Amino acid sequence: MVSASKVLDRVLVLEMVRVTEAAAINASTLIGRGDEKAADAAAVEAMRAALNELAMDGTVVIGEGERDEAPMLYIGEKVGSAIGTGPRIDIALDPLEGTTITAKAGPNALAVLAVAEEGNLLNAPDVYMDKLAVGPGYPDGIIDLAKSATENVQAVAKAKGVEPNEIIVCVLDRPRHEKLIAELRGIGCGIMLIPDGDVAGVIAVTNPETTIDMYMGSGGAPEGVLAAAALRCVGGQFKGRLLFRNDDERARARKWGITDLDYIYDLKELAKGDCIFAATGVTDGSLLDGVKRLPGGKMTTESVVMRASSGTVRWVRGEHRKQG
Ligand code: FBP
Repeated sequence: MVSASKVLDRVLVLEMVRVTEAAAINASTLIGRGDEKAADAAAVEAMRAALNELAMDGTVVIGEGERDEAPMLYIGEKVGSAIGTGPRIDIALDPLEGTTITAKAGPNALAVLAVAEEGNLLNAPDVYMDKLAVGPGYPDGIIDLAKSATENVQAVAKAKGVEPNEIIVCVLDRPRHEKLIAELRGIGCGIMLIPDGDVAGVIAVTNPETTIDMYMGSGGAPEGVLAAAALRCVGGQFKGRLLFRNDDERARARKWGITDLDYIYDLKELAKGDCIFAATGVTDGSLLDGVKRLPGGKMTTESVVMRASSGTVRWVRGEHRKQG
């Protein structure tokens, strides 16, 4: 049997782009149509079909939900054309990260995927995660979820050689973040409020062009693992702590083997070892351009695929012609 690491190496890096491209193209037919469910279903169906063409024994560890709530790409679903014989790969996926964005034709909707050797991605339950991220170039351990937002901003500002009021923080625009936003405004920070799509929000801290220094606030735990996988590849620091709203959510976490419910995860605990992260833009955004439909049925896509062990980041522009 070919080892999983060789497969990550040779086969999967570029194949992953085909998978996210397929999901993005299918979802793009529903941009601005006001139907989140249909857009998500289109992305799921295309991503699943593309994954099933790959010669691997894949297991979805982060997916569309648990088996009883998601008909396709549920957690635990086997994908690939070599189940039982091929290399065993764990897959974290979000075929459409930003269903509402897509329905409203807003920015930053993505099709995303992270793959790693079996056992290397945290099997995060579908609960919220408190997230804190900063881009590359800072001393290790500069951010700490056990500290206040103010203390974290002060530490990053000091290391950057600027005042706290020159730091820009990206935060999901949600009523639950009112206190956080007031605290950040209190110290004069610039806040970029995003309507949805915190995978792109977290990744934005790694891109100097966005001018975003930090990411703060809670969002989906699955999206946290995907963002962590991306930061493993491009650099930066990330901390995540699962948040539970009720006993049912705590029970879900225990079911996935999580015993310390207050644990603060570091990047390498969310995505261990070697991993690959791939994304294709559905709508235009800070990371990628969205799917464009040109006269004559031609389409263009923009994707990024990156790998933790080599740190290689590849930007892939696809031109797709109508078949037949
Ligand atoms: P969906 O694509 O599933 O709609 O997720 C979009 C998103 O904004 C994520 O990026 C984020 O992690 C999560 O929703 C936040 O959840 P909520 O909308 O409940 O605040």
